[in-house]
Amino acid sequence: MVENSDRVSGFSTTPVPSPPMRLAKYLARAGVASRRASEDIVRSGRVTVDGEAVTDPAREVGPDDAVALDRRPVTPPTERVVYALNKPAGVVSTARDTHGRPTVVALVGARERLYPVGRLDADSTGLILLTNDGDLAHRLTHPSFEVPKTYRVTVAGGPVGAPALRALREGIRLDDGVTAPARARRLSPDTLELTIHEGRKRQVKRMCDAVGHPVTHLERVSFGPLAIGDLRPGQIRRLTDSEVASLANAGSGARRGAGSSYGGRGSPREGSRTPPGRRGAA
Ligand code: URA
Repeated sequence: MVENSDRVSGFSTTPVPSPPMRLAKYLARAGVASRRASEDIVRSGRVTVDGEAVTDPAREVGPDDAVALDRRPVTPPTERVVYALNKPAGVVSTARDTHGRPTVVALVGARERLYPVGRLDADSTGLILLTNDGDLAHRLTHPSFEVPKTYRVTVAGGPVGAPALRALREGIRLDDGVTAPARARRLSPDTLELTIHEGRKRQVKRMCDAVGHPVTHLERVSFGPLAIGDLRPGQIRRLTDSEVASLANAGSGARRGAGSSYGGRGSPREGSRTPPGRRGAA
């Protein structure tokens, strides 16, 4: 599959920034865990380099080093790929589904091991990204990076009024806490465009429910700087180098910190993370 990605002009390959790099970053890049959690894994003594246990997460490793975790070889991809898919309804945003439903990973059908970047509910449609770079997937979905995502929703409950819009903009008390202020605008009496940067499960639906307007259809129309454009439902395309670069620099500057090989400035300071693709639909 992935054949329909060929229509992208300006496409070229994106080598993952080349080693040497710190061991924790190497593990994160390979999708083992976030950089922070990878540091803990290294400290716990489970990682070897060329057969010797290494407990210093800052140890530099290069392409010729054999890195293993629990004796299993760990190799980050040498070429970063990012795909954009317009997810149709009925497809799940995971690598595997226990109920046998079609998955976004199967739909893309790439030969690389891909992580969905965040989630859309099975009945939601629109832009979902997939990448083989675990570190990038984490950075794009962790709420601390505040990457904005925009959703177009059709709602029930009658015409949306100013009080509902105001509540959405100011923050809504949900059972897992108050939401950060959203950008909300009314496109028609029953259609809203909402931009949020958190990653809570079913967040948009719960926010709209809370203001008396249950969502009847939800489509994600942009993710950070990337808009769905003319990608049709079920269509896939591989992102260009410049699109990948702008995604890698998306989100809050405060969280990009020094040392990022994406042109940003460093790693997040949060604790261990949910593996890429396991976060809730945001
Ligand atoms: N928010 C939701 O409620 N569902 C999605 O699929 C995405 C964001």
